[in-house]
Amino acid sequence: MATERNQKRLRSDRVRIHEGELKMARWFKSSPLPFVFVNFAITADGKIAFANRTFIPFGSPRDREHMLELRATADAVMSGARTVDSGRVTLGPGGEKYRQLRRRHGLTEYNLRVIVSGSGSINPNAHIFKKRFSPIVILTTQRADERALKQLRTLADEVKICGAKEINFRKTLAWLRERWDVKRLLSEGGGELTDALFRAGLVHELHLTICPRIFGGRTAPTLADGEGVLKLADAARLRLKSQKRTGDELFLIYEARR
Ligand SMILES: NC(=O)c1ccc[n+]([C@@H]2O[C@H](COP(=O)([O-])OP(=O)(O)OC[C@H]3O[C@@H](n4cnc5c(N)ncnc54)[C@H](OP(=O)(O)O)[C@@H]3O)[C@@H](O)[C@H]2O)c1
Repeated sequence: MATERNQKRLRSDRVRIHEGELKMARWFKSSPLPFVFVNFAITADGKIAFANRTFIPFGSPRDREHMLELRATADAVMSGARTVDSGRVTLGPGGEKYRQLRRRHGLTEYNLRVIVSGSGSINPNAHIFKKRFSPIVILTTQRADERALKQLRTLADEVKICGAKEINFRKTLAWLRERWDVKRLLSEGGGELTDALFRAGLVHELHLTICPRIFGGRTAPTLADGEGVLKLADAARLRLKSQKRTGDELFLIYEARR
């Protein structure tokens, strides 16, 4: 009886996955943009780091695996300059197990890495530039002066000016799809970058791990800082797509409503 139930569940899971793939395939055909998904670990009080912004992984080992599993479905992983220089961040695929998973998904062994730095202030000594396993693209604006641009070009495989003062993310993501064949883009924050992506209406999915900690701190970052919105009508609306509890952590997937 239990086996029959399991078989039924497996069959319906497969149907759901198949439908999901078809939906995604149809979407890829009709849109010039990549599918954008965002992943964060947050505390129970909604913080993504301490007020001093030091990078401290505070999720469980399962959360770290989850992050690498998500990376294993992405053509590119993107972060803002302050995330990239806040610690030993590489934005890479992780060990052989995850690179194999990428190959099984039909992806390149190593994902493209994208850094957003509107003024070109990214620290040239950041850990990511010491790890040369896959191309690095820096997205910047005309606010970056000639000196900064010259230095960025020594660090990255491509430096793209994506606007005068602000990055035009819609155009830039279309360029990433066209130039670097990015169909699935995983954005890993921080808060300033995520706010800009939500305000531009470019996020499709939000993956959240709610961790059993309280950080407090009125200036501690949250997953969407930046400018924010001032009207309820402008707030991004989400639909809870799935929830899973592992130990004291909750793994949630929200889908952006359009
Ligand atoms: N818990 C988690 O899952 C998680 C994940 C990621 C990060 N974090 C934490 O989050 C903190 C960093 O977040 P954050 O919000 O301070 O910084 P961030 O979003 O990582 O980076 C901000 C910088 O990125 C550039 N940037 C971002 N959005 C931009 C836009 N729309 N246009 C132009 N440039 C843009 C700017 O660089 P320029 O200054 O060069 O213009 C800006 O100063 C760190 O403490 C990190 O550890 C936690």
